[in-house]
Amino acid sequence: MLTRSPNSSLRLGILLSGRGSNFLAIADSIRAGRLPGVEIAVVISNVAEAPALKAAQGLGLPAAVCVSKGRPRAEHDVDMIACLQSHHVDLVCLAGYMRLLSPNFIAAFRNRILNIHPSLLPAFPGLEAQEQAFAYGVKIAGCTVHFVDEELDHGPIVVQRAIAILDSDTPESLNRRILAEEHLAYTEAIRLVSSREYEFRGRRYLKRDS
Ligand code: GRF
Repeated sequence: MLTRSPNSSLRLGILLSGRGSNFLAIADSIRAGRLPGVEIAVVISNVAEAPALKAAQGLGLPAAVCVSKGRPRAEHDVDMIACLQSHHVDLVCLAGYMRLLSPNFIAAFRNRILNIHPSLLPAFPGLEAQEQAFAYGVKIAGCTVHFVDEELDHGPIVVQRAIAILDSDTPESLNRRILAEEHLAYTEAIRLVSSREYEFRGRRYLKRDS
């Protein structure tokens, strides 16, 4: 759980591997005042060439590379945890981070890791979720922001946003329309978590009774 003091800001650690459009949407929401009391403490990529790294530097944000290729997961995660802790990160946001987390990582940030997935979970976990949904022929698709636990794309759901799949959609147009919803969903999820007004009841993440 988040244990920071009431007046301190919520410090995000953004983990990514590539393009970084979700990261940029979060950064834009902070800049535009849609996430009061939230700041990006560090952006970390496990891929040195990730375009998002340059974008982070361009925004003047602390950015770090921790290359994972060829390294055992547990060993790499020790360095990731150290980097997040050295930047005093409260909440880890996976934003296109293409690497599974080790149990130690999840334990170090228990209930403090969010992920965004481009389907309405529990449908279509894993890779290429939009393509899976399109090929299956579902009529409603969308995205999910959820807490991360030890199982793939599985932890408690914070926010979901749905869209209708149109007869005219292609996998590419569906991808684009889901991505636009992702950008809204991640900000909404961080806002809920940072509000301190929500709690877990089993798998459910609900507004606390006042
Ligand atoms: C998004 O579709 C997200 O749902 C998935 O990876 C993709 C990352 O895109 N986990 P971006 O790097 O944020 O643009």
